[in-house]
Amino acid sequence: VLTPSDYKVADLSLAEFGRKEITLAEHEMPGLMAIRAEYAQAQPLRGARVSGSLHMTVQTAVLIETLAALGAEVRWASCNIFSTQDHAAAAIVVGAGTPEAPAGIPVFAWKGETLEEYWWCTEQMLRWPDDGDGVTGPNMILDDGGDATMLVHKGTEFEKAGAVPDAAASDSEEWQVFLSLLRRSLAEDGNRWTAVGERIKGVTEETTTGVHRLYEMAKEGSLLFPAINVNDSVTKSKFDNKYGCRHSLIDGINRATDVLIGGKVAVVCGYGDVGKGCAESLRGQGARVIVTEVDPICALQAAMDGFQVATLQDVVGSADIFVTATGNKDIIMAADMAAMKHQAIVGNIGHFDNEIDMAGLAKVPGVVKTEVKPQVHTWTFADGKTIIVLSEGRLLNLGNATGHPSFVMSNSFTNQVIAQIELFTKTEEYPIDVYVLPKHLDEKVARLHLDALGVRLTQLTPDQASYIGVAVEGPYKPEHYRY
Ligand code: NAI
Repeated sequence: VLTPSDYKVADLSLAEFGRKEITLAEHEMPGLMAIRAEYAQAQPLRGARVSGSLHMTVQTAVLIETLAALGAEVRWASCNIFSTQDHAAAAIVVGAGTPEAPAGIPVFAWKGETLEEYWWCTEQMLRWPDDGDGVTGPNMILDDGGDATMLVHKGTEFEKAGAVPDAAASDSEEWQVFLSLLRRSLAEDGNRWTAVGERIKGVTEETTTGVHRLYEMAKEGSLLFPAINVNDSVTKSKFDNKYGCRHSLIDGINRATDVLIGGKVAVVCGYGDVGKGCAESLRGQGARVIVTEVDPICALQAAMDGFQVATLQDVVGSADIFVTATGNKDIIMAADMAAMKHQAIVGNIGHFDNEIDMAGLAKVPGVVKTEVKPQVHTWTFADGKTIIVLSEGRLLNLGNATGHPSFVMSNSFTNQVIAQIELFTKTEEYPIDVYVLPKHLDEKVARLHLDALGVRLTQLTPDQASYIGVAVEGPYKPEHYRY
């Protein structure tokens, strides 16, 4: 049975609703359920203490219970202040118990956290009861965007330096909150994060932005433990980022505004995996879609897919809907928003909120922010013109809707579970670096999702296999193949 300090969620009475949706989701997540069946006996994650930082949704609940079914102990937080589905969080905490006597898994997450609360939750998710060796941390991290990994790394770095740097005035509010957490922790225990980092066997990272952070740390030699880049499994980024956003972008815009998308002009900034899904979904609704890009290859792809490619400046005054999907910063600035049409809609689907200059918008003289409903705000400029900003610039598909649907997340999360098993059970095969899963496992993830869609695969004959230089049972493509 959990004690109240083992969790913090919005409302445990939502657990029954959460459980019903988790049950429906399980049927739509055949990859995860197949992995549960495959490893039920072997229990490969027995002894693993997994700290997870990933949107606490219904789909993530199925992931959490899969890790637990494979023997892991788990603690969870969301990786975004708006992305938690409170009924899913409640169901995970209650588990086989009741709202009065919860007996499930510790979760620290609710929809609409403040930045202070967000980092408090992340800290709690990384703070385990001492299991005898004096270390109060996890031995595995499952991350989305890299915040949990960053906390351990920055904590270790500042402990080694003996001090946390002062926040510069230019640093974001979030960075200031983060530094003050570490300042407090350093005052309490000057070796906490170092000890935690030393015990971690590895991290599996979900998204493009988090993966980017990992490769930078590996390059500069500061990475403390091995990492598996789950994002770049083909069955993750070419499915979740693309088809997932194709579904959930439109869902977020609809739930937030219910504006008719057909006939409108929509701008998608970035034509990577996420941008491709976004552009297709807006076109599917009848919008005329314009893409912005910096990469000539992606710009050419957009053009050949039939989209106009322009600069934001060219179209900022005439488009109706703007979506950022770059994983980069400073994409739509305050001056851009001031130049938009009345009631233009602005949203971001990239991992962090710095794609849209929310801080700059708040500083525009005379601007007034009004809440229409949670995660939907109008910003009215001094001249009376208003724009609509979704989820305060944070990822709108999780802030305004419920993120990607189960079936596509089953692909992503099956990669996550396989990556956790790899790093936990074969630690010595992974010296500190960033890895992607081998292609045969990527193909396995896809295979686990074919029956549910009625897909019938063609079998290679041995003669055909040798003609194209592959084994009959795969892998079917060389490493350099791009899908
Ligand atoms: P990607 O790297 O495939 O695509 C990003 C594209 O943006 C690139 O083609 C790049 O050239 C372009 N870009 C960069 N700077 C630009 C600029 N100033 N103007 C226009 N284009 C620019 O990355 P991916 O996988 O598409 O991910 C994008 C973001 O979405 C990341 O932050 C990722 O973590 C996040 N993500 C969000 C999901 C969600 O559910 N909301 C799901 C998956 C990823």
